[in-house]
Amino acid sequence: MNNINFPGFPLSRPRRLRRTAALRDMFRETRLATSDFIYPVFVTGGERIKRQIDAMPGIFQLSIDNVLHECDQLLSLGINSILLFGIPPQKDDSGSEAIASDGIVQAAINSIKRRFPELVVVSDVCLCAYTSHGHCGLVRDGEILNDESVELIAKQALTHVQSGADIVAPSDMMDGRVGAIRGKLDEAGFANTPIMAYSAKYASSFYGPFREAAESAPQFGDRRSYQMDHGNADEALREIAFDIQEGADIVMVKPALAYLDVIRRAKVEFNIPLAAYNVSGEYSMIKAAAERGWIDGHAAMMETLTSIKRAGADLIITYFAKEAAAELAK
Ligand code: PBG
Repeated sequence: MNNINFPGFPLSRPRRLRRTAALRDMFRETRLATSDFIYPVFVTGGERIKRQIDAMPGIFQLSIDNVLHECDQLLSLGINSILLFGIPPQKDDSGSEAIASDGIVQAAINSIKRRFPELVVVSDVCLCAYTSHGHCGLVRDGEILNDESVELIAKQALTHVQSGADIVAPSDMMDGRVGAIRGKLDEAGFANTPIMAYSAKYASSFYGPFREAAESAPQFGDRRSYQMDHGNADEALREIAFDIQEGADIVMVKPALAYLDVIRRAKVEFNIPLAAYNVSGEYSMIKAAAERGWIDGHAAMMETLTSIKRAGADLIITYFAKEAAAELAK
């Protein structure tokens, strides 16, 4: 773009195109669509469970029967895709529930796909909700192991796909896990199942409310030895490049709002579908301020989601999906 040849005022009057609602609508560059959204769902054991998450108004832990109701509602709103998180009945050191073929996520995927074959089920692949220490990988002597964790994570991904998952989304940030998952899936005859890699995932304070939702807070230390430092953007591009080389079909930047520059750079740099995760804390902040009457929650939601798309995201994972879809249908 080269603005140098534009005449200045008074020949140029940018306000001409903002004069009426119809004109503004005509010249809007970025438009949200319901098909942009992926809605996160937390599945827990039991029946008829609908447990509100304190810091996330409107978001619940659901038992499988209620997840099915939710899916029904999502499809009627035009939301065709969910991201599934499991809350297992028990945790242990090695996260063994994560790879149980009859585990909570595996069972949920199975039920959902049987009832709603058209719904795109993306499954989050990570150990943090399954390990007693709450880390995303296996731990030895206080250290988060890489290669051993990757092996387990690849197995976990395979069980999700065997249960019917349409896309697997590794969120652990271990090195080499995308390649390991790709190899595992191909070997088992699932060469056509895409991988959505949480490629540039930052160690972020904005995950706080999620850890209550997924019961996945680390019991010691933090995630800084595997998730990225928030000062780094060049490194994010390298992470994304590695994941593409290892076979990622969709790459992700997470969180979204404090990292819009990273979304933009990733979009410009790589010609590949790009997802952004509008995370729990980003949702809670808007909800909390709106509850107090400090901001207009609906307007802030739409502005926020538009900013993520404007930055370059093709897909937005967001707890606002249902509200935004309703807004778009107006
Ligand atoms: C699991 C995972 C996390 C989120 C998605 N997958 C939390 C974490 O890394 O601690 C965060 C999602 C959100 O905050 O909405 N590794």
